[in-house]
Amino acid sequence: MSKRGRFITLEGGEGVGKSTNVAFVEAWLKERGIEVVRTREPGGTARAEAIRELLLDPSPTEPLSVDAELLLVFAARAQHLAEKILPALERGAWVVCDRFTDATFAYQGGGRGIDAQRIAQLEQFVQRGLAPDVTLLLDMSPEAAKERLEGRLRDLNTQRDRFEQERVEFFMAVRRAYLERAASAPERFALIDAAQPLQDVQVALSRVLEERVAQWR
Ligand code: TMP
Repeated sequence: MSKRGRFITLEGGEGVGKSTNVAFVEAWLKERGIEVVRTREPGGTARAEAIRELLLDPSPTEPLSVDAELLLVFAARAQHLAEKILPALERGAWVVCDRFTDATFAYQGGGRGIDAQRIAQLEQFVQRGLAPDVTLLLDMSPEAAKERLEGRLRDLNTQRDRFEQERVEFFMAVRRAYLERAASAPERFALIDAAQPLQDVQVALSRVLEERVAQWR
């Protein structure tokens, strides 16, 4: 039987450069001969992507209740774990996931104000102890990230999704919750300053990966 794969997550607020750096991490691992499954949350499978649509739909006709939002996030996660993440890890592939449950603690917990204990109950129910091996947290101030995000939305000419429509205070609470989680699990988290030039962000990411890969192999 092959050795179980490693589970790497990237986290951070909107506009911190997550997509670019998820691709960077994937390429870095592949260059070292590691089989990588790159995925994202909410989403990652057809049904979980359908749930993502419900979560991001900015249509004002019917507000989404805070509890419904939380449960949808975990419903998508349950599907994603069963169909994609767990099978990949079992066969020895490494999974690089753009957001995971730390995002729930940050957005639904910090942003929406849901008690962390309630989120932890769902986490246990859905994940049964599964947690990322390392979480790369791309951190920058929401004000600076907002400028980047607005530039991107303008360039792509896209509408803001339900989360992107939130005010800066929401993203400040999200950031605080992320930083608290990182402080409470320093062995799992690597905090990366995402306000530095991209090249420096990627040097920092490479250092963390080098250190972890050496420990794991
Ligand atoms: P994205 O910006 O990474 O594509 O993610 C879509 C949105 O989903 C983003 O605004 C954060 C939000 N989200 C949550 O609110 N809770 C979660 O658990 C996850 C994974 C994402």
